[in-house]
Amino acid sequence: MNPATTVEPTTAPASMHELQEAVHGDGHDYVDGSPHLMHARLNTWMRDVLNATVADLGDRADRAGRPVRVLEVGAGHGPFTETLLAAGAEVVVTEMSAPSATHLAGRFRHNPRVRVVHDPTGDLAAHGRVDLVVFMSVLHHIPDYLDALARAAAVVEPGGALVSFQDPVLYSRQGRPSRALARAATLAWRTTRGDLARGLRTQARRLRGVYDENDPSDMSEYHCVRDGVDEQAVATLLAGRFADVRLEHYWSTQAGWAQALGRHWAPPNTFGVVARGRR
Ligand SMILES: C[S@@+](CC[C@H](N)C(=O)[O-])C[C@H]1O[C@@H](n2cnc3c(N)ncnc32)[C@H](O)[C@@H]1O
Repeated sequence: MNPATTVEPTTAPASMHELQEAVHGDGHDYVDGSPHLMHARLNTWMRDVLNATVADLGDRADRAGRPVRVLEVGAGHGPFTETLLAAGAEVVVTEMSAPSATHLAGRFRHNPRVRVVHDPTGDLAAHGRVDLVVFMSVLHHIPDYLDALARAAAVVEPGGALVSFQDPVLYSRQGRPSRALARAATLAWRTTRGDLARGLRTQARRLRGVYDENDPSDMSEYHCVRDGVDEQAVATLLAGRFADVRLEHYWSTQAGWAQALGRHWAPPNTFGVVARGRR
């Protein structure tokens, strides 16, 4: 057959849940490469914020005779679910990756205050109304994160809260030196992981703005590999719905030594947001 006349089979673009599953499959190590899980100082700070937020919401829930209700989106293997439970909350955890949802269901099978939902579409409205919505290192995975935040805010009870951490500040707002430093720190870390060549090839492709919508490494951490997450747009959206919105800017990177140095000297490259007082 003349190859020029061969009709190549067309493949439909992979769905987002297939792409998330390709990266977060059975036995995925969530800690490796996640600064907020690897570095105790960051991890403790985030747990403290979650604890304080659940405690703030506790009186109102007490008066209603129920625990604080939380929706944790994209819980991974549940490190922060544990914190929320220890704070006394009742938690619906969602996961777009079926293997991670299965892991969560196994891990929390004896706890009646946890409901695990495999959520291939990211349909937040399906899980009922809550006092608090939590996204830990999830917004940058969602192509339309502002829409997801608006839908998340819509399920928060009046007086409730929304907390999100561990997303990259919009790259254009980080500035070139800061961005270059963050990239260099990640590449230095990669040398210790043995995948420097692949990392360099991927970086080169991304610097040219070339993305493959069937390649999980281009699609899973969607905004990390593109332009970052627009923290000002996030704050503006939430300010329309919550009485008090606080952006937290901080430095985060994988290598311990770069984290320790950058904490004092590097410009913040990552952000979290704490929104309280749902109107
Ligand atoms: C970087 S991991 C973070 C996991 C966990 N929150 C943590 O901090 O360890 C992001 C997780 O979000 C999940 N995810 C991505 N988009 C999602 C969505 N729209 N709804 C639910 N889960 C989602 C992915 O499957 C992945 O497990």
